[in-house]
Amino acid sequence: MFYLEIEGNSKLSGEVAISGAKNAALPLIASTLIMKDDVVLENIPNVADIKTLATLLVNLGAKCDFLDSHILKINTNNINSTKANYDIVRKMRASILVLGPLLARFGHCEVSLPGGCAIGQRPIDLHLSALEKMGANIEIKQGYVVATAPNGLHGADIVFDKITVTGSENIIMAAALAHGTTRLTNVAKEPEVVQLCEVLADVGVYIEGIGTNELTIKGTGQNLITSKNIRVIPDRIEAGTYLCAGAITNSKITITNANANHLKAILTKFNEMGFGIEINDDKITILPTDKIKPVEIVTTEYPGFPTDMQAQFMALALIADGVSVIDERLFENRFMHVSELSRMGADIRLNGHIASIYGGEKLNAADVMATDLRASSALVLAALASDGTSKVHRIYHLDRGYENLEIKLAELGAKIKRLEE
Ligand code: EPZ
Repeated sequence: MFYLEIEGNSKLSGEVAISGAKNAALPLIASTLIMKDDVVLENIPNVADIKTLATLLVNLGAKCDFLDSHILKINTNNINSTKANYDIVRKMRASILVLGPLLARFGHCEVSLPGGCAIGQRPIDLHLSALEKMGANIEIKQGYVVATAPNGLHGADIVFDKITVTGSENIIMAAALAHGTTRLTNVAKEPEVVQLCEVLADVGVYIEGIGTNELTIKGTGQNLITSKNIRVIPDRIEAGTYLCAGAITNSKITITNANANHLKAILTKFNEMGFGIEINDDKITILPTDKIKPVEIVTTEYPGFPTDMQAQFMALALIADGVSVIDERLFENRFMHVSELSRMGADIRLNGHIASIYGGEKLNAADVMATDLRASSALVLAALASDGTSKVHRIYHLDRGYENLEIKLAELGAKIKRLEE
């Protein structure tokens, strides 16, 4: 198993290029299940979760060829199975994204239930009830969602009880191939959801309301969509994480290939903490500050502050001058990094879903263990600001969603090495 060895207290400088967004690429890859012939996806991040979904598609009979490490060509013309096995789904919850497309195209499928995960229970009831409204018969058998709709799915009026990102994506893809018109209310507006809609609209699916929380989608009546080349949007969470690396070392760094429009809530919090931000086309520079102020954060759906940046800002709040408060509203167990940060000398007090971070104490290096993707990046950030050399173990979590993290950080001047236990 690999771990990262990080020497703290160094300043960073220079530029780092942001990769394509994992959470945009995943639904786009799943959407090739409702498309015919070759589909070429560019700016695919070279991370483990993408390979997991590609393997799942190959198991279903699709052809997936990486033309290089960032370009993926997929052809789903010869799919010969509609069963997404436990072995793959358990590795990555986002595998559930094949449910809507498979059911809409073939009228039946079996997808393993993803189960709970480190950050919370994460049910998929909203995905399932929406598909039922579209005419699916759904049973849970031996840990699998067994879904049938022999005559295909039909349009329906669906109001999501809660905003769900992958739930919205699943139903958008299902609706694109359904018979008739689907109206979705309380849809997620995350840039990744918007890109999926834009890609589908671009290839001729009628979608009204893109970028709002109400969508009207006219289905193709099970006619597969002919697609064009797709270019994945930049990863706003990776972008925010590198800006945090600049902030926590109080250094000037620039990220390139970023979309500042997707980062408004995050950039606002840097400003509130005292950091200057400069935006120049697809480049964002963070500037050091004399006094790092504490911050108040409530995680919520886009365009609010993303839960996927909560752990990184908690690490950053540790060096602020005062008490910061973070209210995690989306996931009930997304504070797993707190006990690891405490091992580095952090004073963080939890009260249910609210964390109070007593900043200003110097962090010290320690051996720490990654628990989930974003928690891992918070530990790396804290290590950059600590006295001494830290080791971050179980970095397979990081590899799921951050492309070449240690190479990119080293390019910025961090003293970081990937080593084998
Ligand atoms: C997506 O997960 C992201 N994953 C997550 O990123 C992200 O943290 C999350 O959205 C919130 O922004 C991908 O895009 C692949 P949700 P998703 O359904 O879709 C509840 C990362 O680090 N809910 O929007 O699974 C749920 O429990 C990952 O890259 C139901 O109750 O999240 C949660 O409290 C981690 N029933 C809330 O809604 C449902 O059927 C939002 O979850 C579905 C969700």
